[in-house]
Amino acid sequence: MRASVTPEDDRPVIAVANRLPLHRGEDGWELAPGGLVTALRPVMAAHPGAWVGWDGGTKGMPTTLPDSRVSLLPIALSAAQVRDYYRGFANATMWPLLHNAIEKPRFERSWWNAYQEVNRVFADRAQAAADEHPDAITWVHDYHLMMVPQLIRNQRPEAPIGFFLHVPWPSPDIYARLPWREQILWGLLGADVVAFHTDDYRYNFLRSCVRQLADSGLEVRGSGVVLPDGRTVTTATAPISIDAGEFASFAAEPEVKDGIAALEDQFAGRVLLLGADRLDYTKGIIERLLAVEMLLERDPEMRTSVAFLQLAVPSRDDVREYRQLRGIVEQHVGRINGRFTQPGSDVPVHYLYRGLSPQQLAAYYAAADVLLVTPLIDGMNLVCKEYVTVQQAAGGSGALVLSEFTGAAVELPQAVLCNPFDVEGLSYRIEQAIALKPDARRKALAAMAEQVRVHDVHAWVSGQLTLIAARGAAAAGNRR
Ligand code: ADP
Ligand code: F6P
Repeated sequence: MRASVTPEDDRPVIAVANRLPLHRGEDGWELAPGGLVTALRPVMAAHPGAWVGWDGGTKGMPTTLPDSRVSLLPIALSAAQVRDYYRGFANATMWPLLHNAIEKPRFERSWWNAYQEVNRVFADRAQAAADEHPDAITWVHDYHLMMVPQLIRNQRPEAPIGFFLHVPWPSPDIYARLPWREQILWGLLGADVVAFHTDDYRYNFLRSCVRQLADSGLEVRGSGVVLPDGRTVTTATAPISIDAGEFASFAAEPEVKDGIAALEDQFAGRVLLLGADRLDYTKGIIERLLAVEMLLERDPEMRTSVAFLQLAVPSRDDVREYRQLRGIVEQHVGRINGRFTQPGSDVPVHYLYRGLSPQQLAAYYAAADVLLVTPLIDGMNLVCKEYVTVQQAAGGSGALVLSEFTGAAVELPQAVLCNPFDVEGLSYRIEQAIALKPDARRKALAAMAEQVRVHDVHAWVSGQLTLIAARGAAAAGNRR
């Protein structure tokens, strides 16, 4: 299933990410939800090394990632650190700020202090792991840990360090609102490589460096940032992906086939529209529901011929904005069903608020005629990549409605692209996707599935590790 093999493929990797890839679910240890874990888990399974991450407050974490040579190194956070670093600075300051401030970022100095403190804990733990694996590449992930590259660099000037941002980087104007904007940039610039999903996010980052740090003597040259001490930090565009081979193989599993048959039975005679997201205000779930409502309003026949099924994974429900979102989504679902359920007929909107296994999700993907991916902004979005992969493997002809404000839209232009801020326009885009002829659907699906197959997560990780190793070696060479 691996796209390519490089000399870096067996080099130890120390992944440093906010969460470990496992959490305790109802049936024991399960994969934690979210794009970062989906992408990194199969990759880490192929490398020796370690994964440093928060234990999520659960005790008894397994010491290794199942079927791998990866030690899991849990970090326990105090209740105050979870409140100020995770819920506060990571999810109520940086998450909204980096997502174009679509919710207002909250700025609290005590959260910033906790963020620095916790980043130091992660950096120390990563260095202890590097002592065990002296040849390792240290690979830091996401907006929770942006100070870690420089903290490690201070202690290990010659270490190869990469950073990958799994979310967007906004325009320099929005980034400039952050009171600690210089410190975060210096934190990231401790890495040899700072990588993003799209060129737009990377350019925004480079422009933020110039705007905030030019007085220091820092210069941007091409895709590199030359620091005042002469060290060069490379920036890269590397859209993350999924383990396409693994997702495609789900379509043939008996459990998945049973799941598909049950769904086809349940929704027989209806066109099935699907949404699947973490319950997050970036995902455009409300706009999607309102667009479905408009569709049902405009075309009474659709009230019985179409069903919309929204799967929502609980996420960050102890952050105020997320709790409020859940209430609003549930109100909309109730109102739409109240308005449009026909006597003697099934409801038009189905809503499941729970986590599902990848196999269960695959059954939904295979059974859905149209997937609605409508974020107001999304760094990448892996759900759409999973959908086209499973549909293609299952011999389907599903259509994808995809927000143009996702990183994935750059790679999947054959989708029915939409602007979710224009709810009425979105409702017409959904109608257009439903009406697509089978030939057109199949052609678009084949092209999108092929893009995901060729540019899968194994190709992504090989490319990233090769680049970090090369830039790290070059920087260390220059210092000697
Ligand atoms: P994000 O990283 O913002 O959560 P992505 O679309 O990149 O968004 O990744 C979401 C991941 O969550 C996907 O891998 C998808 O399979 C998974 N997922 C989506 N819905 C569910 C669900 N109901 N239960 C478990 N996982 C889910
Ligand atoms: O990709 C976005 C992301 O923030 C990942 O970093 C994380 O794995 C996922 O969403 C889930 O979020 P959380 O770890 O806050 O539950």
